Amino acid sequence: MNEPHESMPPGRQLAVVIGAGGMGAAVARRLSHGHRVLVADIDAKRAESLARQLTGEGGEVESVECDVTRPESVAALADAVREKGGFRVLAHVAGLSPAAEDFGLILRVNLTGPALVTRALLPHAGTGAAAILVSSLAGHGFTPAPAVAALLREPHDLRMTERIEAETAEEKRSGALAYQISKYGLLALARREAGAWGERGARIVSLSPGLIATPMGAVEFEHSPTKRGLLARTPLGRQGTMLEIADAVEFLASDRASFISGTDLLVDGGLAGILAEA
Ligand SMILES: NC(=O)c1ccc[n+]([C@@H]2O[C@H](COP(=O)([O-])OP(=O)(O)OC[C@H]3O[C@@H](n4cnc5c(N)ncnc54)[C@H](O)[C@@H]3O)[C@@H](O)[C@H]2O)c1
Repeated sequence: MNEPHESMPPGRQLAVVIGAGGMGAAVARRLSHGHRVLVADIDAKRAESLARQLTGEGGEVESVECDVTRPESVAALADAVREKGGFRVLAHVAGLSPAAEDFGLILRVNLTGPALVTRALLPHAGTGAAAILVSSLAGHGFTPAPAVAALLREPHDLRMTERIEAETAEEKRSGALAYQISKYGLLALARREAGAWGERGARIVSLSPGLIATPMGAVEFEHSPTKRGLLARTPLGRQGTMLEIADAVEFLASDRASFISGTDLLVDGGLAGILAEA
């Protein structure tokens, strides 16, 4: 029988990866080179298949079903992490694209979800642990209405979404606006939670990809001609790759990033800078 774990050094620390989609898979694969990995996704089959694949590649990878928008599901994830002795890395990659079009669902998955997950897992963060929340370039250069900005201070509140909906005229409730609000809120979440994580000797950061070649990115290109315009304006003249996102996550998760917390890393080929200066 194939025993992929036997050559592994003992005592590898746990990395929890939320999201087994394109980018989540790339991140889980990379983290599996130095950690035990627990992959969580609402799509249990997708998470299981990724765990099987990475185990076949020699990793020590398990999967668990988790809907980040449901507190009881997140609590079960936290229990699983506690039983495994806590974690060293949390990479929250899961998110819905604007193409999902459901204003409330995008807010819940992209913002309430990471807020619930980071709060539930913080007590299980080991010393030196790091949480990396995948936000987006879309959260930059955007300012929500003041009433919405105030509501974003309580992303754990399950009523936040309906309150934001109530503050947003019906004709403005697009997938694109929900996406921008959610990703803006995620940048703020990492800044605001840095103190609580610091008290445990742990860090929390956000990471904002620009245009990245993923299946989700491909759908976005179909839906939005403006994306093609953004690609043309990207200083590096191309989309980023999932490996480049995995590189950045690996760095932020490592001790080489030990003084980086409460901030964001843009991995966008320079696009945000160009847009800010336009
Ligand atoms: N692709 C890009 O160009 C791009 C650019 C900027 C930011 N991002 C961000 O990167 C992240 C990942 O993108 P991707 O292309 O890998 O997406 P993807 O659609 O391939 O994967 C997302 C995963 O999230 C899971 N998911 C959805 N709802 C969930 C829930 N309630 N609970 C748990 N899991 C849930 C899905 O099942 C899926 O496996 C997203 O947060 C996205 O906003 C992507």
